[in-house]
Amino acid sequence: MLADKRILLIIGGGIAAYKALDLIRRLRERGARVRAVMTQAAQQFITPLSVGALTADHVFTDLFDRQDEQDVGHIRLAREADLIVVAPATADLMAKLANGLANDLASAILLATDKTVLIAPAMNPRMWSRPATLRNRATLAADGVLFIGPARGEMAEAGEAGEGRMAEPLDIVAAAEAALGGGPLAGRHVLVTSGPTHEPIDPVRYIANRSSGAQGTALAAALRDLGARVTFITGPATVPPPQGVAVVSVETAREMLDAVQAALPADAAVMAAAVADWRVANQGAQKMKKDGSGRAPALEFAENPDILATVSKGAQRPRLVVGFAAETEKVVDHASAKRLRKGCDWIVANDVSPATGIMGGAENAVTLISAAGAETWERMPKAMVARRLAERIAEALA
Ligand code: CTP
Repeated sequence: MLADKRILLIIGGGIAAYKALDLIRRLRERGARVRAVMTQAAQQFITPLSVGALTADHVFTDLFDRQDEQDVGHIRLAREADLIVVAPATADLMAKLANGLANDLASAILLATDKTVLIAPAMNPRMWSRPATLRNRATLAADGVLFIGPARGEMAEAGEAGEGRMAEPLDIVAAAEAALGGGPLAGRHVLVTSGPTHEPIDPVRYIANRSSGAQGTALAAALRDLGARVTFITGPATVPPPQGVAVVSVETAREMLDAVQAALPADAAVMAAAVADWRVANQGAQKMKKDGSGRAPALEFAENPDILATVSKGAQRPRLVVGFAAETEKVVDHASAKRLRKGCDWIVANDVSPATGIMGGAENAVTLISAAGAETWERMPKAMVARRLAERIAEALA
């Protein structure tokens, strides 16, 4: 898919810049032609010499370089690409892109281009979650800029962890392939929720369920394979998230709702998460201790927001909203009622009685319920269910 594609790689100034070297190798291995632009800050981390050695091309660094401007120029650099990838995308580059600043070569290209722009943000988790960055993220998403990552994990700064690590080069390659894919869902944004939620009792204990996240993960991968830009909002699942999608990790139902709303607008939303219906209302700020009386503490519960219903009835409702229904009896009746109650277009119903082995298993047997009626599919691997559902979603959005 990348063979002979022209990728303009803009390298921003961050610790993660060293990974851009590996990214160039990975892109070229797949036949892409890579031209690199480096910001001034990027050159504090890696040198144009090493970048040029890997691209086997001139490296562009300066908007005011007379020779470069005569030979190629920033407008041509912007035009002569099939895809622009910004990796690492610093908070500064994102702010420039969101606001249309153009005071250096990288930002001038980004303002001048009408090509798809894929950014791989990398910054300290605090910077990533500041209001200014949140505003820029929303602006860029609304402008159609594609995101890959950031991932959650250890930061370069000792002792710092959180969301802000640049996506791994292979994930960026997969996102670039999807962006260029031209599949039936190319240009569509699909949001997928997946996995269980964890509802804290106190700082060390929580309530959870047995969802592994397998079906939601398979679905996100299938949608990606059809060319969709996927935002994957996942609770603490046991299967790892797919590559090449924007992963947002959350713990609680309320965090999941916030993440879903921040990711809108979308063309379709698929809610495969097993969201806890209840959270602990009298959550302890400190670890709950035994008081010596032998009496167990009483937990009080409050109802969690219904994410599916909120999105289905919300102002930014995607064109297609798909829910899941985990039932243990009268599957079609209960799921049909659920579809109407929650206001979604389709419900994918499955029987999660322990005897079926579906929850946490590799296979699924589902009934697709829409306004047109109920359609029962034969039992098949979760990846096949995902594939078929993704194809149906592509047909519905065509
Ligand atoms: N769901 C949601 N937010 C919730 C609960 C459920 O978005 N707070 C979504 C799930 O992701 C799924 C659908 O609603 O797509 C149905 O989930 P399910 O657990 O089957 O339904 P419940 O709403 O919990 O209904 P009930 O407990 O009556 O079966």
